[in-house]
Amino acid sequence: MATTSNAKKVDEVRREAGRLSSAAHTADQLMESIAVLLNQQMLKYNWVGFYMLEPGANPPVLGLGHYRGAMTPHTRIPLNQGICGAAASSGKTVVVDDVKNDPRYLACSLETKSEIVVPVFVRGQVAGELDIDSHFPAAFTVDDRELIEYCAQLVGKRLENQ
Ligand code: SME
Repeated sequence: MATTSNAKKVDEVRREAGRLSSAAHTADQLMESIAVLLNQQMLKYNWVGFYMLEPGANPPVLGLGHYRGAMTPHTRIPLNQGICGAAASSGKTVVVDDVKNDPRYLACSLETKSEIVVPVFVRGQVAGELDIDSHFPAAFTVDDRELIEYCAQLVGKRLENQ
């Protein structure tokens, strides 16, 4: 069954993310390895990247960090723009099953059909986010969401400890 095999894959990738977190020397290294892991192992995660709040920027802006997938024109996103801005300003995960029906959506690729953006918290404050685009509609199930939130937590914890 498709759902069962997705759950199994999610579980396997979750364990690998935990191992990567223990092995990483820096938060940067961890973000890089998580972007690679999710993009390579999860077939529907066609673009995986981190946007981090730029230190000292006023008004605040999200800057593109480690990513895997096609180049994006959106390298700096203010908090009042895009799905990315919505997730960072609300501090909540945003899941969009059909990007063409969401007026907030900033297009990166014509192939993108669905998107999830999960905030990264450092000491309770949003420090950035993990953004994933899929070429498949409604690609992000509850299991996917939990996996991606777990990865964002690993990065947040690592940032707290450096
Ligand atoms: N679609 C995002 C912009 C970033 S790209 O997906 C890489 C948004 O609407 O904020």
